[in-house]
Amino acid sequence: MQKNNVQTDRPLKPLLLGLAGYGTVGSGLARILDENREAIRRRAGRDIRIKSVLVRDPSRPRQYPLPEGASFCTEMSCLYDDPELDVVVELIGGVVNAGEVIRRSLLAGKHVVTANKALLAEDGKDLFQLAAEKGLYLGYEASVCGGIPVVQTLRESLAANRIVTLSGILNGTCNYILSSMTSKGMSFDAALKEAQDQGFAEADPTLDIEGFDAAHKLALLIRLAWGIHYPFKDLPVSGISRVAAEDIQFAREFGYNIKLLGYAQMEGDTLDAGVFPFLVPNSYLLAKVGYSYNAVRIEGNAVGSVFLHGRGAGDMPTGSAVAADILAIARGDQPNNLGFCGAELPAAKIRPPKESRSRYYFRLQVQDKPGVMRDVAAILAENNISIHQALQKGLTDVVPLMFMTHLAKTRDVENALASIAACGFTRAEPVYYRVLPQPNESD
Ligand SMILES: NC(=O)c1ccc[n+]([C@@H]2O[C@H](COP(=O)([O-])OP(=O)(O)OC[C@H]3O[C@@H](n4cnc5c(N)ncnc54)[C@H](OP(=O)(O)O)[C@@H]3O)[C@@H](O)[C@H]2O)c1
Repeated sequence: MQKNNVQTDRPLKPLLLGLAGYGTVGSGLARILDENREAIRRRAGRDIRIKSVLVRDPSRPRQYPLPEGASFCTEMSCLYDDPELDVVVELIGGVVNAGEVIRRSLLAGKHVVTANKALLAEDGKDLFQLAAEKGLYLGYEASVCGGIPVVQTLRESLAANRIVTLSGILNGTCNYILSSMTSKGMSFDAALKEAQDQGFAEADPTLDIEGFDAAHKLALLIRLAWGIHYPFKDLPVSGISRVAAEDIQFAREFGYNIKLLGYAQMEGDTLDAGVFPFLVPNSYLLAKVGYSYNAVRIEGNAVGSVFLHGRGAGDMPTGSAVAADILAIARGDQPNNLGFCGAELPAAKIRPPKESRSRYYFRLQVQDKPGVMRDVAAILAENNISIHQALQKGLTDVVPLMFMTHLAKTRDVENALASIAACGFTRAEPVYYRVLPQPNESD
């Protein structure tokens, strides 16, 4: 491929793209390349044109018309076997076919850009290795938080930092549901239905509400922040489907909003990470991120804290991130896919999830009778859990009893709650959520 020469006046030949997929993101990308053609040409020093577009059904109506000079095809080989194409842009989603398109395109010597977090989180290791061996670009800015430029920020702008913590609202569907529950007092089911009616949740929302989509993005962020490989299957993940309206309400009374966060913290050489519903102090920026917006807070040892906020999905925001990677290729930037030298990343040293320490919120539904509070407090003390605040509500026979704790180990929390449940005075399964640590919180 021709090398970059944005500094010279020598015209370069247009960069030719093959797109796999012309759905939400594919058509957003085509529209951006059309509508911003002049601005893009000035930055890249050349034209960027779409030549072929792989779809399942070319006769389907499209959100944006196919650009002039482009045509549909239905065989994957129309992309990786076409010697004219410089870049293949994978936007079909899923793992098997998308993996095949990317692998065969890299083998054919083509740069690749993708928005596919599921594939890169679960199978990315081999693809990044192949791209490194071939000296090719494997761009994935759009795969984490859509339009928010977090990949570039971690890989380039914060490259001189040791990253200490990273926490993010990585899934717009969950944030939409939790925001509706918080601001309108809705139940989880009603908020999910509203999100589906508004187009912010899929008909089958499992991947989002059970936390797996956020976990895919967290696995990629861990790679970028620390240059280590954390196997996706080992990440502890807990979604929002069991978050009750009353917990949102009680958390607010303690001064917190409940948010689903991807969280990772490096202590020494050991990483503590996972996706969980967290109580976030309502004075924090993360607590104020509403509805379908995403945000990432990164703390570096040199820069301090950096907060990125924006649209995590949608045709134009995601298309904008895809186009940024294509522009880098058009300029002839050297591939720096992982941001760390070497084709293979070392394995992460992982703190076992049960050894992880956090402050916690508990809610118990208990019989309102003498001695219950005493017994609960004794069990918590036996398990090294110190109470920071307690709150009991209502005057009925069964009442909610809430606690905020000081730092406690997950193992101790689980043991304590099992012992409390065995006492016979609880009337529902105990609920417990982590509390987002303050920077440099030690105890
Ligand atoms: N949507 C977002 O806001 C967003 C945000 C961030 C990342 N992403 C990621 O971007 C990727 C694309 O998402 P999307 O929302 O644009 O998907 P989409 O709207 O469902 O579009 C998928 C496109 O891929 C084509 N396709 C699917 N399987 C195919 C196959 N086996 N062979 C040929 N064509 C196939 C479809 O063809 P037909 O049109 O003929 O059916 C369609 O054009 C996914 O990896 C997703 O996770 C999306």
